[in-house]
Amino acid sequence: MRDRIPAVAAWAALFALATAPGWAQTAAASKGGRVEKSSFGTTKDGQPVDLYTLTNANGVVARIITYGALLTELHVPDKAGKPADVVLGFKSLDRYEGAHPYFGATIGRVANRIAKGKFKLLGQEYTLATNNGPNHLHGGLKGFDKRVWKAQPVSVGGVPAVRFTYASADMEEGYPGALTATVTYTLTHANELRLEYTAVTDKPTIVNLTNHSYFNLAGDGQGTILDHELTIMADRYTPVDDTLIPTGEIASVRGTVMDFSRATAIGARIKDVPGPAPGGYDHNYVLSHGGGVLAMSAAVRDPQSGRVLEVLTSEPGIQLYTGNFLDGTITGKAGVAYQKHAGFCLETQHFPDSINHPNFPPVVLQPGRTFKSTTVYRFSAR
Ligand code: BGC
Repeated sequence: MRDRIPAVAAWAALFALATAPGWAQTAAASKGGRVEKSSFGTTKDGQPVDLYTLTNANGVVARIITYGALLTELHVPDKAGKPADVVLGFKSLDRYEGAHPYFGATIGRVANRIAKGKFKLLGQEYTLATNNGPNHLHGGLKGFDKRVWKAQPVSVGGVPAVRFTYASADMEEGYPGALTATVTYTLTHANELRLEYTAVTDKPTIVNLTNHSYFNLAGDGQGTILDHELTIMADRYTPVDDTLIPTGEIASVRGTVMDFSRATAIGARIKDVPGPAPGGYDHNYVLSHGGGVLAMSAAVRDPQSGRVLEVLTSEPGIQLYTGNFLDGTITGKAGVAYQKHAGFCLETQHFPDSINHPNFPPVVLQPGRTFKSTTVYRFSAR
């Protein structure tokens, strides 16, 4: 896949990053990454869980566990070169097995919501668990985030990479078709964490895979993300009802609090976001590039540390979720309670409830076809 960078003036600031001195140095770094495997414990039902540590030539470290093919840690440098772990999460497996809002996890079979847990495929109606008010969310009661995946290191030329595979049975969580999904995490020497997804099925089914990392570019446990400056390369979004199901409308962000087409602090207008309590952003943006080709889609900068996250994806949408439901009841890795807005998610995806909206990009996967999707989280500092 080719990277397509939008040539829109408002996003010109992003291009400056590619020529910044720190960037050039990083990109030119010699090869020499590594992958290490260790134990992360055993699930309550006796399945061993492994932890893979990916280290690149610049000392950037990503840690992923086979439970949920889940990113537990990601250490990246600030503008002074000082590393911090920029994702929320836990130190131990029992915490991930307990109740938590999908920290770092791979989400499937269908990310985001399906209205009333119902959909029709080839004339047949399917009923899924309603695990989020009246709706189905993030694959159901035991989605891909709660499964133990198989893992295999697949590093090429000193670039650390691990492929995770999960075989989901026919009718698991109510979805038709035996589906085999993979997600390959690659940590490049340009400080990019690259996630490549595939899925194949033996019967027509629906698929929408994403990663649910909560980022805080100041570091895990370092307060809220309200001062982070966010750009999303989208002029439109999908408005939602009171249960966060899209109404079907594709609306312009222009002149509204939804507009992040120019870098704006996440907290600047967050109190004015319309919608149910507890408020905040929890919306799908319609990416201007349309999906299908890996393209620049969003950028976030923490003004204090200078850390920058750019998100490239081949998906047509991104869910901006600003950790609205975090309420101080969960304590994370750093021993700090996660308060409202302690992290943000940029969930690259097909649109929520797509299967019930013929005007949304389709999520049906046919046997004989391979679902493919790529998302890159690229880090720098300035
Ligand atoms: C959803 C939120 C939800 C969060 C954690 C996000 O993808 O959009 O509404 O609270 O996941 O479950």
